[in-house]
Amino acid sequence: MPLAAHIDTLRDAHKTELGGARTEDLLEDARVLVGRELARVEDLLAGAVREGASPGPEAADHLLAAGGKRVRPMLALLAAEALGGITETTREVAMVSELIHLATLLHDDVVDDAPERRGRATAGRVYGNAVSVLGGDLLLTTALGRTQALGQPDLLASLITTLRALVDGELIQLRGRRGLVLSRESYEAIVEGKTASLFVWAARAGASSIAVDARDAAKHASYTDALGTFGRHLGLAFQIVDDLIDYVGSETGKSLYADLREGKATLPVIVAAERDPGLLEELQACARGEREGAEATLAARIVATGACDDVRARAEAETRAALAALDRLPPGRAVTLLAAVATRLSARLA
Ligand code: IPE
Ligand code: IPE
Ligand code: MG
Ligand code: MG
Repeated sequence: MPLAAHIDTLRDAHKTELGGARTEDLLEDARVLVGRELARVEDLLAGAVREGASPGPEAADHLLAAGGKRVRPMLALLAAEALGGITETTREVAMVSELIHLATLLHDDVVDDAPERRGRATAGRVYGNAVSVLGGDLLLTTALGRTQALGQPDLLASLITTLRALVDGELIQLRGRRGLVLSRESYEAIVEGKTASLFVWAARAGASSIAVDARDAAKHASYTDALGTFGRHLGLAFQIVDDLIDYVGSETGKSLYADLREGKATLPVIVAAERDPGLLEELQACARGEREGAEATLAARIVATGACDDVRARAEAETRAALAALDRLPPGRAVTLLAAVATRLSARLA
């Protein structure tokens, strides 16, 4: 969905949640503010993806220009706004969060052998996998360099930790894929690593991007923790919903059953296999490519176990936990919009 349309829909989603004309006014203010700030981040991104030797930047720009929701930059911007106001550093960390995301997508689509991303052929299909990998590497070096240049060593240190968590998450997922390992523990580790970690960094870095008076340091630290907790639960809900979309579809039209074909043991599959023991063998055959054309039948069998209702309830619980963390912040228009983002993202299901 184009960015402007996405932000517009936040209003409607929130109206039903919170109601009242004042909330709408607040949201309208915030929408204008975030729209303007995201446009500035977009300009920064357009410049940053051009760095490096050709054809790396072409692959990166191919992905950037295809769109995307810009959820992580929005999180960084709103976190800063909630605690005092967006600065030059906020825009930089917002940009960095999307650069890291873009890099992981360029790599992930090679790992997953994905034909499409953001409604277009993947960079790997257009430029080749080698260019997609190296284009992602370029983005990582740019992101690390820009973060280092901010002169806040904690931001760089936490980014490196986050990158390790991301890679570990992808590796644990890969490990599971070989034998289609169905463990809830592995799933939790994967989702924490590959998705929630960057949400946490974006939210905390946004909070760290504003100047804080020494007298307010303790209060600011507790607000930063609350924003990190919000980011974590939002990230978990986001990935769980994304995994559900593979089986139940979404308003975004993301293609169905890709995870099934890739042999990815996501939560719907894990819960379904607990309830329908014969399913595991079928899923393993599918992951080996022996059930081509039978994905819809297999997905229907998963849905028939009722697993998707459980997974939906889990996503809702994570969204509620995210919203609860916002109660620990000073109320205001940015916090209201953070709540709207959380509500909207978990309502992506068809
Ligand atoms: C895709 O992330 C990968 C997941 C973590 C599910 P997004 O859904 O944020 O992708 P874009 O940026 O909007 O394309
Ligand atoms: C996305 O993971 C990549 C990261 C979050 C690092 P997935 O493989 O689950 O997501 P899609 O389905 O390709 O967007
Ligand atoms: Mg993928
Ligand atoms: Mg993947």
